[in-house]
Amino acid sequence: MLRGNKVGLRARHEDDIPILRAELYDDVVNASRAEGRPWRPITPGSKDSRLVVDDKEQGHVPFSVVELEGGTLVGTATLWGIDNHNRFAHIGLGLLPSSRGKGYGTDVVGVLCHYGFIVRGLQRLQIETLADNAAMLRSAERNGFVREGVLRSSAWVMGEFLDEVLLGLLVQDWKPDSRG
Ligand SMILES: CC(C)(COP(=O)(O)OP(=O)(O)OC[C@H]1O[C@@H](n2cnc3c(N)ncnc32)[C@H](O)[C@@H]1OP(=O)(O)O)[C@@H](O)C(=O)NCCC(=O)NCCS
Repeated sequence: MLRGNKVGLRARHEDDIPILRAELYDDVVNASRAEGRPWRPITPGSKDSRLVVDDKEQGHVPFSVVELEGGTLVGTATLWGIDNHNRFAHIGLGLLPSSRGKGYGTDVVGVLCHYGFIVRGLQRLQIETLADNAAMLRSAERNGFVREGVLRSSAWVMGEFLDEVLLGLLVQDWKPDSRG
């Protein structure tokens, strides 16, 4: 398990799947905002890649996020689009509604940076998020990500086009213990 200050990132367990499905993916608004594709229901027991992990998929590393104290599941985190030639990847995360606003998101971003830069030897990490997602923007910026641009009207979300913000962090600018 990868450890942050408050949360850990571990493998996806079978028991996690119904909780993640009910609390993240069955919420049409949350799923539509978090994914760049249309919401559709996931059949219980299906091998849908949003929940069930394929360990052979080299470019996509999904984790379940748990509280360090007690081990309760609080969300998902992913290093995806891993490009080993250009040595960059994207990060993404989603916390269960009751676990938001407690500093876990900031901690998860820090742990994903450790995984990307130290474990995987990447040089650049990237985040795309909706321009109105203040908590995600702040979680990224607290870890040193900088806004590199606005992708105007790039996301169709529940009946309207929204802007996305592109944030990047280079390994030489990453300060592992500073979240200020
Ligand atoms: C986005 C998300 C991962 C952030 O994680 P979090 O644990 O809620 O965020 P934190 O508690 O670490 O807060 C980070 C910062 O944002 C601020 N913040 C938190 N919720 C906020 C909100 N609703 N509005 C404005 N600011 C907010 C916090 O005060 C904190 O700022 P600070 O460091 O100056 O104190 C989480 O809210 C979430 O899963 N949301 C739904 C899914 C999603 O949007 N995923 C990202 C898709 S790209």
